[in-house]
Amino acid sequence: MMLTDAYSRRFNYVRLSVTESCNFRCTYCLPDGTDCHSRSGELTLAEIRRLIIAFAKLGAKKVRITGGEPSLRKDLTEIIATCKAVPGIEKVALTTNGYRLKRDAQAWQEAGLDAVNVSVDSLDADTFHLVTGQDKLADILAGIHYAKAIGIKQVKINTVLLKQHNALALPDFLNFVKQQDIALRFIELMRTGDNANFYQHQHLSGASIQQQLLADGWQLNPKARTDGPALEYSHSDYQGKIGLIMPYSKDFCADCNRLRVSSSGQLYLCLFTDTYQDLRSLLQTDDSATLMRFLQQSVQGKAFSHQLTQDYSGSTRHLAQIGG
Ligand code: GTP
Ligand code: 5AD
Ligand code: SF4
Repeated sequence: MMLTDAYSRRFNYVRLSVTESCNFRCTYCLPDGTDCHSRSGELTLAEIRRLIIAFAKLGAKKVRITGGEPSLRKDLTEIIATCKAVPGIEKVALTTNGYRLKRDAQAWQEAGLDAVNVSVDSLDADTFHLVTGQDKLADILAGIHYAKAIGIKQVKINTVLLKQHNALALPDFLNFVKQQDIALRFIELMRTGDNANFYQHQHLSGASIQQQLLADGWQLNPKARTDGPALEYSHSDYQGKIGLIMPYSKDFCADCNRLRVSSSGQLYLCLFTDTYQDLRSLLQTDDSATLMRFLQQSVQGKAFSHQLTQDYSGSTRHLAQIGG
């Protein structure tokens, strides 16, 4: 049985948030004072195992562990190992702010981690501090270097496009990927319940970057339907790649292959939606047939595209709630 919706989309990719908590306070995500849910409601290892088993039986091949900041979970290494051990799961990936990369990347890799996406919103130390609330740019860049050096196959960088900080910084980012085989993806700032005012002032369209890349000789790489939202560009003078994630265009929704589960076990069919299904009680027993039926029924309610517009973001307060 495959998890398929009313638009014949197949869901083989689960994004599992393991905590809403974060030790950073990125201005666009968790402005100072934003409270995260209590940690006590987080899914246990046993619940995570049952969840991933059910998804894998329904055809899931990839799990991305998100948050909040996943490495705030003391059992993150066990979570990675648990996901990787589920028959059918071929790839386990992590999205992190990179704070614990240097310390833990080796253990994560030994547990089966295949890929890691690290957020780096500026390559200037002061700006990085201003955006994230943490003075950690050098440590995080060292962590990225280390993750690549120990052989984690896919290491990507996420950079949220902010008008004030990144519009003029494109040459710095290009310089960064010139000598390094790494993919750096610019993400359009998405409006959420908590950042509406910030969004008004800081949103920058990815199209402006796209035009500069094309003018500089960057070429769009062919994209498979299963490749996810990023458009990826290459250039013969650069070892790395530049990606663009432009949610306002909505053009990737038709190929959506992902479902999200929050840290307390709520199924979100989309990043921007007003509804969710609570899976928690179904995760308390080993009855995976019932859970699978519930998932199969739930995905029938998935809308064709997300509800995000310039002035509407549904009930999503911030992306740490659902793992981005
Ligand atoms: P891979 O393709 O597995 O590398 O992952 P990814 O690029 O989707 O993962 P990552 O967690 O690094 O996400 C990068 C950014 O893309 C985040 O800001 C996400 O919120 C955004 N994004 C990912 N999937 C979707 C989606 O389905 N809809 C929207 N609107 N944004 C998405
Ligand atoms: N808009 C765009 N990207 C966001 N992220 C978090 N909040 C937002 C937002 N409002 C990014 C983080 C991280 C990824 C998972 O999501 O920077 O790289
Ligand atoms: Fe934390 Fe990520 Fe949100 Fe920054 S974007 S505050 S690192 S969850």
